[in-house]
Amino acid sequence: MRTPVMAGNWKMYKTPEETAGFFARFLEQVGNPADREIVICPPFVNIPAAVAATSGSVVRIGGQNLYWKTEGAFTGEVSGPMLRAAGCTHVIVGHSERRQYFSETDETVLARTRAALEAGLTPIVCVGETLEARESGETASVLTRQFQDGIAPLETAQFGQIVIAYEPVWAIGTGRTATPAIAAEAHVTLRRLAASRFGTDPADRVRILYGGSVKPDNIQTLMAEKEIDGVLVGGASLDPVSFATITNA
Ligand code: PGA
Repeated sequence: MRTPVMAGNWKMYKTPEETAGFFARFLEQVGNPADREIVICPPFVNIPAAVAATSGSVVRIGGQNLYWKTEGAFTGEVSGPMLRAAGCTHVIVGHSERRQYFSETDETVLARTRAALEAGLTPIVCVGETLEARESGETASVLTRQFQDGIAPLETAQFGQIVIAYEPVWAIGTGRTATPAIAAEAHVTLRRLAASRFGTDPADRVRILYGGSVKPDNIQTLMAEKEIDGVLVGGASLDPVSFATITNA
C-alpha cells in the first residue's frame, strides 16, 4: 500500500498574513489524518508563517524550488539546507512552469533532486508532456526522456526517497483535467520505466501523484484510480475549504 500524498502548490500567491489566515481555516477542517500525507508549498517568504501555523499538526511544508549548491554567490537562489532549516520537509522540483519560463532542463532537475535529497528533503519531481507532444503522439517518449535524464541517474536508495508528480502541461491551470484513464496510462509508463531501471520493488513503492486542474469535484474519480497515489494541486489549494475537501477525499 502506498500512502497517498495530497500536495498544494501555491505558486506565486499569498502574503504571510494570508498564509496564517489560510491555515486557521484549513486546519479546522482536516484534523490529523494518519493515512495520508498533506503538504503545502508556499512561496519562500511565506515558509516561516506556514511552518509556525502548522506546528503540531500533520501538515508538512515544502519549497517550490531549490538551487543545487548549499551556499555561495548565487543571487536570488535558495538552497536545500536553507529550506530544511526553515522547517520544510519537501520541495517541488522541475515544475513545468520552471521548465517553461526559467530554463529548467532534465539535467538541472536531476541536480536539484540530488541536492534536495542531500539536504534531507523529499523532492516532488514533476514530469509531463505539452499539448503539442500529446497531439503528436509523443507522450510516452517525452516521459521516457524526462525519466531517463532527470530521474534514472539517481541511485536506487535515492529513488526510494522521491515522489513523482505527473502533470500534463495542457491540464495545468486550464480547467482541462486528464481523465483517470489518461493519467493511469502515464503513471503505468513511469512505473515501467522505474521498474526497468530500479527493479520492481522500488517501482511498486514510489508514489506517483497526478496534477493538473484537480478540483473538489473531480478528486473522487481521480483518487479512485489505483495508479494515482495522490495529487499536486495548484489553484484549488489556495482556498482552505476547497483544499480541505480535496485532502479529505
Ligand atoms: P492547477 O496547477 O491545479 O492550477 O492546474 C497544478 C500545478 O501546477 O501543480
